[in-house]
Amino acid sequence: MDADSLVLSAQSISKSFGPVQVLFDVDLNLRSGSVHALIGENGAGKSTLMKILGGYQPASSGSILIDGMQVRLADSATAEANGIVLIHQEFNLAEQLTVEANIFLGRELHNGPFLDWRGMRARARTLLRELETDIEPQQRVRELSVPQKQMVEIAKALVRDARILMMDEPTAALTSKESQVLFKQIEKLKAQGVAILYTSHKLEEVKAIADNVTILRDGAKVIEGPASEFTVDQMATQMVGRDVSDLFPQKSAHEDSAEALSVTGFNVPGYVEGAEFHLRRGEILGFAGLVGAGRTELMEGIVGLRHASGHIEVGGKAVDIRSLKDASHLGLAYLTEDRKGHGLLVDKQMRPNVTLLGLDRFVNLFIDERAEDRALDKSIEEFDIRAPNRQVKVSNLSGGNQQKLLLAKTMLVEPDIVIVDEPTRGIDIGTKQQIYEFINALAQAGKSIIVVSSEMAEVIGLCHRVVVMRAGRLTGELTGRDITEENIVRLAVGIEGDKVA
Ligand SMILES: Nc1ncnc2c1ncn2[C@@H]1O[C@H](COP(=O)(O)OP(=O)(O)OP(=O)(O)O)[C@@H](O)[C@H]1O
Ligand SMILES: [Mg+2]
Repeated sequence: MDADSLVLSAQSISKSFGPVQVLFDVDLNLRSGSVHALIGENGAGKSTLMKILGGYQPASSGSILIDGMQVRLADSATAEANGIVLIHQEFNLAEQLTVEANIFLGRELHNGPFLDWRGMRARARTLLRELETDIEPQQRVRELSVPQKQMVEIAKALVRDARILMMDEPTAALTSKESQVLFKQIEKLKAQGVAILYTSHKLEEVKAIADNVTILRDGAKVIEGPASEFTVDQMATQMVGRDVSDLFPQKSAHEDSAEALSVTGFNVPGYVEGAEFHLRRGEILGFAGLVGAGRTELMEGIVGLRHASGHIEVGGKAVDIRSLKDASHLGLAYLTEDRKGHGLLVDKQMRPNVTLLGLDRFVNLFIDERAEDRALDKSIEEFDIRAPNRQVKVSNLSGGNQQKLLLAKTMLVEPDIVIVDEPTRGIDIGTKQQIYEFINALAQAGKSIIVVSSEMAEVIGLCHRVVVMRAGRLTGELTGRDITEENIVRLAVGIEGDKVA
């Protein structure tokens, strides 16, 4: 690679929030037509560095050169004028606006003095089709699912004709099929000479698409080099500072035990038809499928977040669940995939977030703040939540640490049945290992767990049994040795033997 392809050079970047320093003299060089991966544990400073380069936050010290010239990126508009565009980890979309309005926000097409809505709609539709989604330009963003929002974020970045495109965990919310679509776009952009800075906790993916890798640990660069010089295990070890090659715990022998949850004849209008499954005590049951298969809607129906009909039994007794609170009283907890939408109160501190669901036990005329504090201590320890301090607003926690907080909140009510939807989204490999151990230990203690996950390895490595959904229906069930990627994909896309169903 020749030296003159260097487009962006960040030199000795440091960043502090008040007394807390989160980046330490970080150097980073980006070259045109190449993908540079930035990896590190949750809270290592990846998003912060990207926000600085995108003009969203000022560095405390250090300099940024573009084409060899020092620049001051006072705001995101200045960065954009310099050809730098950031796809945010926590989406940056206007929920109440349409998809097309979001895509062209601040970049509207004009026809003489007028806004060219027809042109924008056509361009938006073309882009969305290129991204192989069926999202319509006129849909409101708030009606979209999390993965769909991710695709809109990507479309929004693509119309901005970036020379330097930064993607902060773009595939965290995507299945492997959609990720492949994104990688095709990345290849195209590379061929056009765009420099890409990319973060992800999916290290296999980093290995596959990155030309170069920079690894951050606790805000400092530990190593950088060509991606070809690192194995996935080596990347993980450098990130975490210890060996994490045994990602999944030994699956506990799961004996036939009493039924914990039984769902029959279950419908969620518009999403799920005739679902039936049974969950036993001590069992980890996986739900696999493509995005849009109806897994999230089924779970939301079961826990009372969505209008649904059908028969549910908890511990052999018929129950009627109309709200999350009803579910919680029956010992059933739900971890949402949408942590920003209805998972966390991001403007509040950690403590009220953790104790929100179990509030009853902290209220004795007044909220018992000491008990709440102890609960938070326990959560921080159990889930290895890394926060600058206890007063920090949840929105200022790193993405992965927000996810850990959400898990802690779900577990605080000590449920018998736990439904987790994408539990390790955006979580680093070291903490993933801890969460898998935690889930396994819950099962061994006789609790029952449903894991909805788009990560094939997670479903295969963790679950005793896997149910696959396609287009709102349960298409099959796999146990033991039959839980393979091939079998899951076959059931998820609907190919029976050689004939397409
Ligand atoms: N506005 C802020 N105020 C205070 N602390 C902040 C703020 N923004 C980020 N931090 C802290 O800076 C550190 C780095 O966070 P950052 O979001 O860059 O991590 P990350 O590497 O992107 O992690 P993740 O993989 O979880 O997304 C964290 O400790 C975070 O809590
Ligand atoms: Mg981040």
